[in-house]
Amino acid sequence: MNHFSSIYNSVYKKGNLFNLDKKIKSNPFIAQGKRKNSVIVAGGALGDEGKGRITDELTADFLSKYDHVVHYRDNGGANAGHTVQVGKIKIALHQLGAGVLQKGCTVIIGKEMVVHPEDLVLEIEEVLKAINKKTLPAKLMIDEMALLCLDTHRAFENGLKTHSTGSKGSTGRGIAPAYADVVFRNPLRMRDLLSSNWDEKIATHYNLYNDWLKGMSLKLSQMEVPRLDGSLLKVGSLSQMNARLEKARKILLPFITPLYDYMSDVWQSKTPIVFEKAQALGLDKRWGVYPDVTASDCTFDGIFSSTEGIADPNLVAVKAATIKATYSSSVGSRVLPTMMEEKLASKIREDANEYGATTKRPRDIAHIDLPMLSFLFKTNRVEYLVMTHLDISYLNEPIKVCVDYQIDGKSVSYRPDQEYLNQVEPVYVELPAWDGEKLHQIKAIKKLPKTALQYVTFISKSLNVKLLMATTGPAREQTIKWY
Ligand code: IMP
Repeated sequence: MNHFSSIYNSVYKKGNLFNLDKKIKSNPFIAQGKRKNSVIVAGGALGDEGKGRITDELTADFLSKYDHVVHYRDNGGANAGHTVQVGKIKIALHQLGAGVLQKGCTVIIGKEMVVHPEDLVLEIEEVLKAINKKTLPAKLMIDEMALLCLDTHRAFENGLKTHSTGSKGSTGRGIAPAYADVVFRNPLRMRDLLSSNWDEKIATHYNLYNDWLKGMSLKLSQMEVPRLDGSLLKVGSLSQMNARLEKARKILLPFITPLYDYMSDVWQSKTPIVFEKAQALGLDKRWGVYPDVTASDCTFDGIFSSTEGIADPNLVAVKAATIKATYSSSVGSRVLPTMMEEKLASKIREDANEYGATTKRPRDIAHIDLPMLSFLFKTNRVEYLVMTHLDISYLNEPIKVCVDYQIDGKSVSYRPDQEYLNQVEPVYVELPAWDGEKLHQIKAIKKLPKTALQYVTFISKSLNVKLLMATTGPAREQTIKWY
């Protein structure tokens, strides 16, 4: 009997709820031996699990008790897309952490991020328009060491796509080439925007990418690259690209700053810190399904290196990963063994609006895959689970959950490798569902239907983590908390 079968028997046959029908006894945010009031939230699967909404909510909760909260966005760039809904306002955020809408919050764009300056300015303008304000409610700080991600990178990535590499599924936002510049030891960083020899630096950079693209028989100046809203723009000549950057530079200048001392002081203070990882554990370049992975460090451990050893993830009070409760989604070229049959997938896609916030691509919908999730949770030492979309459940549609993989009838383990996954056959259990619509108004654990309680127990025990929260709708108040 594998681990999941024994949990299944315990929950569904013996009726054991492992105390998950009650709140956690002690407040996890002030656990002994940990840095009090610190939390990291990462996507636990393949992205788009609602991290932005959760970090927004955690920030708001801290701000109801403290004057100041730091919201540290750690990795990725304009490839990310979180939709945050506060009251009637709905905003898609890409490079800004979700705390940006809250007064009293300092939103940090960390060193491991790749920043597209023009898209960031557009995003700030969109936020200001949506909230009808002239300045952001939160204070914004951009680490001077954060990497620049430019139209040159987007053009180059576009070139790579036609050369049939793992870039095929990418968001086209130039993320991998911007990170590759670090490995090639010639990245441009935010601080370069402030340097007196910027014109020289950007010229060297432009010419290098021009030459690389020439080698692919492409002309950099003529290539079209996406803007924030997906519309296309020609890269143009060096001076045209530099003129666009100059405009963005003027606006971003006041936010660019060294962050080491500031973060060091914050970490040692009592100020609550919410770390937000972008993308997801299953998109990490080492733990994701090779080759369609992203280029940043998506792990919890990433915050240790991006803060230059200040924020030790093992001392963070709550290390939480979010998953969609009853299904999983994926965008890109990876083919999951657990892809759902299209009839149910398209219903879920419409009910849960499963379209990319950045690319608007319809997302692939898959069944929950416990072998994959437990691999990701184990390699990242996840401690707490957040389940979003608990309301996506249909009474007459049992929830299929993958509990094993087989090759030639023999049980095999999960490997993060597309070629390997193409060979495996998933083995499912079917679990009793509940009427998801009825969950929209529920806020207390004890009001949850028994089948939903059994389900959240089965998943969290199978993944060996404590349950922190579950969401039952898009609004901030549609959340059930176990603490
Ligand atoms: P890149 O990050 O644009 O290089 O894309 C690499 C892979 O990660 C592709 O499969 C993308 O679809 C996926 N990806 C990147 N960012 C996100 C995200 O925020 N949500 C879901 N998938 C993402």
